Amino acid sequence: MSLQNSMSGKVCLVTGATAGIGLETARELARRGAVVVGVGRSAEKSASVAAQIRQQTGSQAVEYLLADLSQQSQVRRLAQEFRARYSRLDVLVNNAGAFFMKRYLSADGLELTFALNHLSPFLLTNLLLETLIASGKPGAAARVVNVSSGAHFGAKLDFNDLQSQRYSGWGAYSLSKLANVLFTYELARRLADQPVTANVLHPGFVASNFATNNGRLWRWVLVLMKPWTLTPERGAQTSLLLATSPKLESVTGKYFDDQQREMPSAKISYDRQNQQRLWQTSLELTGLQ
Ligand SMILES: NC(=O)c1ccc[n+]([C@@H]2O[C@H](COP(=O)([O-])OP(=O)(O)OC[C@H]3O[C@@H](n4cnc5c(N)ncnc54)[C@H](OP(=O)(O)O)[C@@H]3O)[C@@H](O)[C@H]2O)c1
Repeated sequence: MSLQNSMSGKVCLVTGATAGIGLETARELARRGAVVVGVGRSAEKSASVAAQIRQQTGSQAVEYLLADLSQQSQVRRLAQEFRARYSRLDVLVNNAGAFFMKRYLSADGLELTFALNHLSPFLLTNLLLETLIASGKPGAAARVVNVSSGAHFGAKLDFNDLQSQRYSGWGAYSLSKLANVLFTYELARRLADQPVTANVLHPGFVASNFATNNGRLWRWVLVLMKPWTLTPERGAQTSLLLATSPKLESVTGKYFDDQQREMPSAKISYDRQNQQRLWQTSLELTGLQ
């Protein structure tokens, strides 16, 4: 089977699919024949990106759904809308994420980085879990792909300060990315008897729109660092590998780096108590409990 139709018949949901790594992931999945459902927060941008992908790939099976993922009510509406329109989900790529130099609160009153980067994929995945389980079968597992970051290696995990009251942008960001890893490992263990895998990755240092929401100074810093960055196409390769590779059919609960290699993640991320405590706290913070 050529790469071009290797994903044919699969339904893939990609968050943060209007820019950077997520856009390239969505585009390539469409090129490989998947039904692609992108998630965007702007109707205009989503429509334009969807039209661009359809035109470039020749696939008409590309649709965007709208949600500001930092708001839990919108994550719930998104999951409902998805389930109403699609009866299966083969690949969920939790890619949307951001870095905020200043501390903001989400509409739900939660620290924005944690709300967007961790609680939103936690909630969305849990709301779509039944659909994922029903879609996978032995030898063709459904897949959850979580986009974390090498930044998680520097994270400090303080369960008494998950809301980063003592805020540093980098501290909150790396904590949220450690949460992605802890969440993936706990999810993989909970799904051990189900035909669904869950893996997590670092995409590399990628020249995307990432962090450009933090003012002119940051944009300049990013321009100066450009020689050390990967293109978004290159940055999407590890997500694509985890979403599509037949070799990873039964691989679950693993961390991959930007060279598409399975690697150990931070030591703290393997602590089961941390994984379970974060899961429990996230259930409470998302009202799933
Ligand atoms: N770039 C890097 O060097 C790097 C390194 C390690 C990890 N990562 C991770 O890679 C992932 C993708 O980042 P990127 O580099 O591709 O960044 P990007 O170019 O800024 O793209 C981020 C995507 O997330 C969406 N998004 C942001 N806030 C949202 C919200 N509240 N609701 C819904 N969607 C929202 C954006 O939508 P809009 O188009 O509307 O803004 C965009 O589609 C992130 O999880 C990031 O943490 C990036």
